[in-house]
Amino acid sequence: ENHCPETRNNLLFGPRQGFHIFFRMSDTDKPAPSKGLEGVVAATTKLSDVRGLDGEPIYCGYNINELAGKATYEEVVHLLHRGKLPNAEELAALKAELAAARKLPDGVVDLIKQLPKDASPMRAIRTVVSALACYEPPEAQDSIEDQAARAIKLIAQVPVITAYFHLARQGKPLPESDPTLGEAANFLYLVDGEKPSEAKEKTIDMCYILHADHGMNASTFSARVTIATLSGMYSAITSAIGTLKGPLHGGANEGVIKMLQEIGSVDKVDAFVEDCLKNKVKIMGIGHRVYKVLDPRAPHLKAMAEKLSGELGETKWLDMSERIRDLMVSKKNLHPNVDFYSATVYYSLGIPTDLFTPLFAIARTSGWTAHVLEQLADNRLIRPKSLYDGPDDLKYVPVEDR
Ligand code: COA
Repeated sequence: ENHCPETRNNLLFGPRQGFHIFFRMSDTDKPAPSKGLEGVVAATTKLSDVRGLDGEPIYCGYNINELAGKATYEEVVHLLHRGKLPNAEELAALKAELAAARKLPDGVVDLIKQLPKDASPMRAIRTVVSALACYEPPEAQDSIEDQAARAIKLIAQVPVITAYFHLARQGKPLPESDPTLGEAANFLYLVDGEKPSEAKEKTIDMCYILHADHGMNASTFSARVTIATLSGMYSAITSAIGTLKGPLHGGANEGVIKMLQEIGSVDKVDAFVEDCLKNKVKIMGIGHRVYKVLDPRAPHLKAMAEKLSGELGETKWLDMSERIRDLMVSKKNLHPNVDFYSATVYYSLGIPTDLFTPLFAIARTSGWTAHVLEQLADNRLIRPKSLYDGPDDLKYVPVEDR
């Protein structure tokens, strides 16, 4: 794969545009893998950037601080999918497209009703997104426009799937979406059975913006690997949801609130953290592969958490969070990530704990699908290598002689 590698400072750089590979040479001159692919540049993208040392995530040229609090989620979807912030007419057209794409096939609604009520929502969403593909024509001859239409459908339908599964598991009826509502408001309307307050809608909308995309994170990489085989949009998003679900990625927001509940009160935080560090147990919501400074999404979420906790008169979760943060910064120089405060925000809004990670999935579907389309526009199979570290020259022994 590295036909004419360039060697600098003991690193090999693969020259291929769109998929730069570098790996460190070991003492024996065998290429050593980058564990966890740390530092590997796996694609060129115009969608988003994560500047780890400056703490700056960028969406198509806009610093996230420029968008959070000013833009709406639908504007960000337009930015990621159509390369620019929309004018009023374009925004209205996109909102109408999303609203029109929300309806799920009847078979999919039946499937949602049949899933075990105690299944975790992330498992359910992953399964249902995969099932959606069965209601679409084969993707092999799809044009890029067909794929883009599938992307809009997924952005509109993942929230409906999430809400429907949540209602179905409680034995409640599944209402139609409200086409007059935006994405955040419609989701809350389906889940709560009533239109949300403006404040609640704005909070979730802002969370959607902060979670919409984030460079080559693990689930986006999964989506790109899958689409690069030309397996189709639904396969790619199914892969991405499965990857997001893990506690080291999107599952961490659920992990944070469980951890806070387990700790119970602020006076028990020090002992808990000490115990985790001693036993090498990860503290959820802390640390990041790329950010070596504070995750810039965290202050936005912290401000929301502070406002909501103040309104509720319940500062316990935030007090515990702050003590954990102080200890982790001073002891390990590790900072809160996006999941740390989002947990308190969702909890304060009365969102069930196991819908925290689905909320991440709902928002990130806009980023995943944009990456899938970008990968398709200039595709090459993603197929790295591994370093074989097993035995050699073994001889077959018939089973009866083993
Ligand atoms: N709690 C305690 N220690 C942590 C930690 C955490 N959350 N995150 C990293 N560390 C420590 C590791 O134990 C390790 O310490 P050591 O060098 O003394 O052994 C060091 O920091 C490097 O950790 P590593 O796991 O190699 O970092 P990574 O880049 O592979 O992992 C994460 C990044 C995000 C997976 C990791 O920080 C983590 O698991 N965080 C908790 C889960 C989470 O919040 N995920 C959401 C990410 S947005």
